[in-house]
Amino acid sequence: MTLPFLPFTRPEIDESAIAAVADVLRSGWITTGPRAQAFEAALSSLFGGRPVRCFSNGTATLEVALRIAGIGPGDEVITTPLTWVATANVIVAVGATPVFVDVDPVTRNLDLDAVEAAITPRTRALMPVHLAGLPVDMDRLAAIARRHSLRVIEDAAQAIDARWVSPGSVGRVRGVEEGQRIGAIGDLVSFSFQANKNLTCAEGGCLVFNTEEEAARAERLRLQGIVRSGWDGLEMDEPGGKSNLSDVHAAIGLAQLDRLPEITARRAQWAAQYLERLNASGLQDLGVELPTPLASVGGITNWHLFQVVLPAERLSGGRAAVMRHLKEAGIGTGVHYPAVHLLNFYRRQGWRPGQLPIAERIGRGTLTLPLFPAMSEADVERVCQQLDHACRLLLS
Ligand SMILES: Cc1ncc(COP(=O)(O)O)c(C=O)c1O
Repeated sequence: MTLPFLPFTRPEIDESAIAAVADVLRSGWITTGPRAQAFEAALSSLFGGRPVRCFSNGTATLEVALRIAGIGPGDEVITTPLTWVATANVIVAVGATPVFVDVDPVTRNLDLDAVEAAITPRTRALMPVHLAGLPVDMDRLAAIARRHSLRVIEDAAQAIDARWVSPGSVGRVRGVEEGQRIGAIGDLVSFSFQANKNLTCAEGGCLVFNTEEEAARAERLRLQGIVRSGWDGLEMDEPGGKSNLSDVHAAIGLAQLDRLPEITARRAQWAAQYLERLNASGLQDLGVELPTPLASVGGITNWHLFQVVLPAERLSGGRAAVMRHLKEAGIGTGVHYPAVHLLNFYRRQGWRPGQLPIAERIGRGTLTLPLFPAMSEADVERVCQQLDHACRLLLS
């Protein structure tokens, strides 16, 4: 019997999301309107009442965040090479320079000692990524930013419902064992609701602010910079872009938001099964690294991705051979991500292999295994068996 193909991810679209979209389509108002506003209000509650504005995608969200923070030509922004290219590209898009620093081998997030060492008089902001939904050390990050008067633009594209338990918050926050959500703390925090994300609008994003003034400016920047239009005439103070979220997309997001606790819990269940099964398999003795569920102090991952790191150099045919083996067994996998500083464009800016050895090694070996709420225990078992088989076959 041939088993159905198991993709590495699949969005959680249920009948309520389909009905909500149909309602919008029938309503006569399909662009930004009441659903987008309701989505923003619901997200604001999720993030402890902080101001939130939605955008058409997470890349636009990050770019607006940089503009709000006043980042431009001549400025340096410190970020990680282990991310989707969008993180670095938006820094270039506003005319600033991304400064990549290496990552911690266990969390695969920015190495905060390396961050501090890379700060120069031109550094204006830090742009950490909570890779795969595992938070960076939010306390240390905030302390570094304070010490050097830097803005923090968190690329939390993958981190909806991830949490940070600050040791300092014990006794102060209700339900501290669950920590505070990423987005409920921090400076400017950017999320993506692209199709693969734990919570999706098909495409979309949101930005969380400290002040209503910054939120109001972002609202203008997402719609051409218009400050007034209609009977009072048209006025614009600074040119903006076009990155508003439509009600069609917002309706999908709203439907998903209701199910976020269930979505997060299911992911954690499959991740726990993967960890138990792969820990027992002995693959680690062959040099395969498993993801850690723990950030250095108190980060709680949302298990956006479950990634192993393969010893790529010792695999006959490299990582691609493992991916091919899994594909032939009906299992989809992904690569998130090759180190960004080694892509052609960044090499032309002077980045070279060997400069960020940990990120480069992880970038060569990282492999994303299937993880999404609707998969089953048997699916996880099948992936583990096939991964084990492929590694033993191809490792020398
Ligand atoms: C880490 C990271 N940053 C930025 C983005 C950009 O988001 P979007 O695809 O919604 O533009 C993504 C997602 O694709 C991402 O994973």
